[in-house]
Amino acid sequence: MEIKYNRQENAFMLNNGHVSYAFSVEQDRYLMHRYFGRSIRECSRISQPYFFDRGFCSNPIPEERTFSLDTLPQEYPDMNQGDFRNPAYVIQTADGRRVTRFYYKDYRIMNGKPELAGLPSVYAEEESEAMALCVTLEDETMNARIELYYTIFRDYDAICRHVEVVNQGDQELYLERLMSMSMDLPGTDYDVLTMTGGHMDEKNINRRPLCSDAVVAESIRGCSSPQATPCLILMEKEAGESYGQVWGINFVYSGDFQAVAQAGQYKSTRVQMGMNPLTFGWSLKAQERFVSPETVMVYSGEGLNGMSQTFHELYRKRLCRGKHRDQIRPVLLNSWEAFGFEVDEEKCLSLAIEAAKLGVELFVVDDGWFKNRMDDKKALGDWVEDKEKFPSGICQLAESIREIGMEFGIWFEPEMISPDSDLYRSHPDWVIRSPRHAPVLSRYQYVLDLSNPEVCDYVVRSMSGLLEAAKITYVKWDMNRHMTDLGSSYLEGSRQRELSHRYMLGLYSILERLNQMFPEVLFEGCSSGGGRYDAGMLYYMPQTWTSDNSDAVCRMKIQYGTSILFPPVTMGAHVSVVPNLQVGRVTPLDTRFAVAMSGNLGYEMDFCHLPEEEKEEIREQIAFYKDIREVVQKGRFYRLLNPQEGNRAAWNFVSEDGNTVVYCYYQILSEAVRVNLPVRLKGLDLDGLYRLQENGSYYGGDELMYAGITSEPVRKDFTSHIYIFKKEGGNER
Ligand code: GLA
Repeated sequence: MEIKYNRQENAFMLNNGHVSYAFSVEQDRYLMHRYFGRSIRECSRISQPYFFDRGFCSNPIPEERTFSLDTLPQEYPDMNQGDFRNPAYVIQTADGRRVTRFYYKDYRIMNGKPELAGLPSVYAEEESEAMALCVTLEDETMNARIELYYTIFRDYDAICRHVEVVNQGDQELYLERLMSMSMDLPGTDYDVLTMTGGHMDEKNINRRPLCSDAVVAESIRGCSSPQATPCLILMEKEAGESYGQVWGINFVYSGDFQAVAQAGQYKSTRVQMGMNPLTFGWSLKAQERFVSPETVMVYSGEGLNGMSQTFHELYRKRLCRGKHRDQIRPVLLNSWEAFGFEVDEEKCLSLAIEAAKLGVELFVVDDGWFKNRMDDKKALGDWVEDKEKFPSGICQLAESIREIGMEFGIWFEPEMISPDSDLYRSHPDWVIRSPRHAPVLSRYQYVLDLSNPEVCDYVVRSMSGLLEAAKITYVKWDMNRHMTDLGSSYLEGSRQRELSHRYMLGLYSILERLNQMFPEVLFEGCSSGGGRYDAGMLYYMPQTWTSDNSDAVCRMKIQYGTSILFPPVTMGAHVSVVPNLQVGRVTPLDTRFAVAMSGNLGYEMDFCHLPEEEKEEIREQIAFYKDIREVVQKGRFYRLLNPQEGNRAAWNFVSEDGNTVVYCYYQILSEAVRVNLPVRLKGLDLDGLYRLQENGSYYGGDELMYAGITSEPVRKDFTSHIYIFKKEGGNER
């Protein structure tokens, strides 16, 4: 791993032997992007564009008619100097002007990775793991500086980028737009892959050609959202799941974002990602510094799966934190689909006794446990236990659950407030709203104004009492509405545009404090399912409830899509009752399990009303999962068949030591014309010999990877088959 500055060429190159990233300084002022891709030893001018005198081109250097920023592959472009593609930033001065001239000033190379104050980010545990480059641009007339940060890792094929703006003068500046990264790649012949969806239908994969205009993925919902995912993936036309070049960019941020791939007139592709300019604005007072959120850029020469694996490894090991990062995640039982709001002490205890007998390790009381919470119309914000439903109290319940042999967890929706709550009655001004209009309700609730530190303190206080008293070791952190009425009674008029980002900073500060105060708590993020399933949240909460849709067939597709960026260990996945409560589908218990065991297994049903043989089956499932969960939670994940495209799904896990392979195959609908082609496994040792657990037979890694496995066709809908292979050494049978 190295970061080189070539004085002669005035050029920078980051390289770790797998990936290289290069840019140079042109005309002593402008940063020109040169390269991001497979590692190369040098990046000279041989690959760089020729400059021509072209129509409509502006010439910032009067005597150089061929030099125009509109044709330059830029690194962090501005507007107003003749580049008419999307600018990376727009900064306004106190006198209302937006013309800026930020020119290259100097650079610094550092060991390790710089922290981003108050924001989630990928980290290095030791200095030797990463190196960082900071390049400074300066506008002397404005007395301001833009610092571009780049980090390269020794062990991951990723580059992290973010930007900081420093107001060195005595006049206020206004940031109107500040993308966390910008990069111009040569050519427009890419496919762009994004992920879209909705509540109960998250992470659908969309791939289409860029053509000659732009593809935009964005959210202005106050969170990353189920509708969009803060990522943009460029693929060579020829690239597929396991071959070809792919550039994946992901935002380590949970609020409003914008990601754009924009084709340029001279066949270039500008990629940008950052906070959404529509809901962002920031007054930067004299001597203040603003830090943008981080983007992670992954290059893969081995298709989408190669890219996913880099994201998985990096996020699992250097984004998720705390004691749960490396710990095996518990099998949990969640009360929501079992009892809904009618949860109470008696029901919990009876269910807990059954759950412990079946092998469940963590009992989670979902929504409905606090005072007046009979339905979703009231009480959010008043985190006081309901003594009618829980006469002995939550602390006693937690104690009893521990005596039964399980850990105890609980649900909160800390960012929200019901108009019918004591909190609202005493603090109506703590709500996000404008003073002129009644705020719009969603699920009968409003959003708390987390730009106000007093509100953040309240959230920490209101949760920590119970977390401490009941010795809670798991929290499901929900967020069930999007933001409207963007206004804050805490922020002064000129700072109203800061609300969306300040909300995120407030939320991150709360999560940081709770992480520090309760290191033993495993936090699971949720936003009506995977509505805020993003890298920002994973920094504080190492797992997310993947979707409110627990139907096995829908879940195959959602989990498959989620795996584009996020490792299975971050996915909460539960077995629920049939007919499924969301879609009414009846799928067999073994298939529901085969899908849920591909993430962090849980159950969301009332075991007390199950026939004995189903309970027995569940007991066996949990025992089976405990045997192989290390492979699922820490192994490598390979997508094999995409259920978003056809009637089948398949994937396989390979344990960290390479000795266990878990292969899961699903057939959604039964077929009259049965087609069951072999599926080729991935990530095995070609020379290895693998013993199939169910029949004791041995197969070569080469055969499993190149000839594949044909699963028996079953004349039934919604079938699945889990194969476990153990590697047993050499190639001889
Ligand atoms: C959201 C969550 C569910 C459940 C309910 C409770 O919809 O996604 O899992 O916790 O809220 O109100």
